[in-house]
Amino acid sequence: MTPLLEAKQVVRRFGEVTALAGVSLAVRPGELLGLVGPDGAGKTTLMRALTGLIDIDAGEAIVAGTPWSRASADAREHLGYMPQQFALYADLSVDENLRFFGHLFGLSRRELSERRSRLLAITQLERAHDRPAGALSGGMYKKLAIACALLHRPQVLVLDEPTNGVDPVSRRELWALLYELVAEGIGVLVATPTMDEAARCDRVCLLSAGHVLIEGEPTALVQACSDVVLEAHAQDRGPIDDYLEAHAGVLSVTPAGERIRALVERQSASEVRRGLTELGADVAHSSADFEDLYFSLAARASGRAAA
Ligand SMILES: Nc1ncnc2c1ncn2[C@@H]1O[C@H](COP(=O)(O)OP(=O)(O)OP(=O)(O)O)[C@@H](O)[C@H]1O
Ligand SMILES: [Mg+2]
Repeated sequence: MTPLLEAKQVVRRFGEVTALAGVSLAVRPGELLGLVGPDGAGKTTLMRALTGLIDIDAGEAIVAGTPWSRASADAREHLGYMPQQFALYADLSVDENLRFFGHLFGLSRRELSERRSRLLAITQLERAHDRPAGALSGGMYKKLAIACALLHRPQVLVLDEPTNGVDPVSRRELWALLYELVAEGIGVLVATPTMDEAARCDRVCLLSAGHVLIEGEPTALVQACSDVVLEAHAQDRGPIDDYLEAHAGVLSVTPAGERIRALVERQSASEVRRGLTELGADVAHSSADFEDLYFSLAARASGRAAA
């Protein structure tokens, strides 16, 4: 099956900064692919390359089987894109925004009316149809932005951090909407900096400093993570922090309430556990989650880069 969007070894530089250092991925129909990484990882740059909005320095950014460098203008009709800073017209109502973007996409009056009903229904925005976009809640605003990106029935939807600044309830609704679109056969590429959202995708691509760290099905990736999580609790945290900081087998340390959560290479786990116990800490094993996996890979990647 030809991917809807594909990156093959894409390189993009901005002066001294290499935003993408040879990134490959593919978005297929009916799949929700998460592009996951911290600030500056290259998510937005990759999305711009895949939507044909910026040129790339090497590799290929491909839409429906054709590289953007050779694609015709109507290649854009395949995709809907919601940029990170998407701006709707604040003074225009929900309906008026839909009408405005419908005209931009060249929809007929009849098509627009059909799409409007359908999109207001799936985004649950019917009751707010005459409210100005500027008066919508954060979650409703994002849903309207997604509705605008879906007006022309794209086969693939590219969403740059759609849940940023959205409360947990609306966040859940937005994800329900994405699942619904995917069930209809649309391919969705969604960027997120949060690891809990990564775990909700069919497949994820973890990006760090312009490199793909790993790609695959979230649960399988976490299960394959061989590192061990140790949680330490002690009255005096100073020596515990110092010990973990100094130990080469410790990949990351994060405070977790009263405890300290350390991600440790398997071969160092018993030694670190002993060390912590000798410093007076209570130590318990815990299972790795998606965030641990990310830190484990990022620590190894930066170790390789420094070596
Ligand atoms: N137009 C530009 N000019 C110069 N540097 C840029 C430009 N766009 C991106 N960069 C740099 O490329 C790198 C990747 O940026 P990008 O915006 O793709 O990251 P991101 O993963 O989307 O981050 P965020 O989560 O903050 O949105 C960063 O170092 C950024 O400063
Ligand atoms: Mg970004």
